[in-house]
Formats: sequence, C-alpha cells, structure tokens
Amino acid sequence: MPNRNIAVLVGSLRNGSYSRQVADALIALAPVGLKPHIVEIGDLPLYNQDLETETPPEPWTRFRNETRAAEGFIFVTPEYNRGLPAVLKNAIDVGSRPYGASIFSGKPAAVISQSPGVYGGFGANHQLRQSLVFLDMPVLQQPEAYLSKSNTAFDESGQLTNEETRGLLQKLLTAFAGLLEKHAG
Ligand code: FNR
Repeated sequence: MPNRNIAVLVGSLRNGSYSRQVADALIALAPVGLKPHIVEIGDLPLYNQDLETETPPEPWTRFRNETRAAEGFIFVTPEYNRGLPAVLKNAIDVGSRPYGASIFSGKPAAVISQSPGVYGGFGANHQLRQSLVFLDMPVLQQPEAYLSKSNTAFDESGQLTNEETRGLLQKLLTAFAGLLEKHAG
C-alpha cells in the first residue's frame, strides 16, 4: 500500500479560517495510503525574479524543499474579489521557479474552494485551475468542490459538522487517490 505524500496549500492566513478548517477535516478524513499535510505559505516573500539568485530567500527554499517530494497537491482556497487570494498565487509562483525546476510539474492536483457566501468560491476555483494548466498538472475534474455557506459547516471548535460536506470531501479524496494511482511512476 503506497503512503503518498500530499502537500496541502491553504489560501488563507487568518485565525479561524474556514479554508484551514476544511484542510484539517480533509487530513482527518484521508484514507489509508494518502498522507496529506499542510505546507505553510504565509512567510513567502512576494515573488521577485531579482531574488532568484544562488541564494534565494530562505522561506522560498524551505517551501520548495518541503514540497519537492510531494506526489500531489490539494489546494484549499477562499475567494477574494471573485479570484484567487494573493498569498496562494504567490506560493504557486514561488513553487513554479526557477525555470525548469517547478515543484508542480506533472503532479496530480485537486482544488477545493469555500465561501460563507452562496457561490462557494467558484471564481477562485476556476482561476486557480487556469494556472494548473500551465503548470502541467493533471487536475481532478470530479467531484468539483465549491463549498458554500462554509461558516455553518463547523462547530465552535472547528470540527466539521456538515455531513454533506464530509461526504463530498471523502468522495474527493477517493477520486484523488485514483488519479494519483493513474499517474504514479
Ligand atoms: C472576501 N470574501 C469573498 N467571498 C466570496 O464568496 N467571494 C468574493 O469574491 C469575496 N471577496 C473577498 C475579498 C476579500 C479581500 C476578503 C477579505 C473576503 C469573503 C470570504 O469568502 C470570507 O472572508 C471567507 O471566510 C474567507 O475564507 P477564510 O479566511 O475563512 O478561509
């Protein structure tokens, strides 16, 4: 049984973030054989090509080293102004460089968006998918995950209480395990 290292990138830095609660629930629900873990992105300096020298900023190196061995990525993101939060886009830009050494290339990905609103972060979800095309990542197509009214899905301690969301996350993890298997080796 494989024990696949899956990097989870969360597009919100705030305390009490629903995105992070979704990521935590996802990690708790992971089936045997999948080892998702959050890789922090909040300390990454904004991408600047001038800093791409022999000694890039330490947090960039830490992030690249921590994700290089990942066999796949799960992105959990809120939507900011119908798009992707800058912190997540910055992590994608940092991970994609230097040219030819992208940490993402060819690795399967899944995208989960959430919002307390009714559209479930659809805009951010699809804007992110646009970058994943360029990064050459096979992206899980079904089930799609646009988690709406996410503020009602967790209890006071951040535990997932919405059964429909739990079912969707379980389905997504099973499908993602299948996608990883298909692209393994
Ligand atoms: C938002 N929010 C938001 N929600 C939404 O559904 N569509 C949107 O376009 C936006 N735009 C937006 C911009 C900015 C700058 C902020 C701070 C917020 C609300 C957002 O979904 C809400 O704050 C979530 O709780 C953010 O996710 P986390 O931090 O809980 O993971």
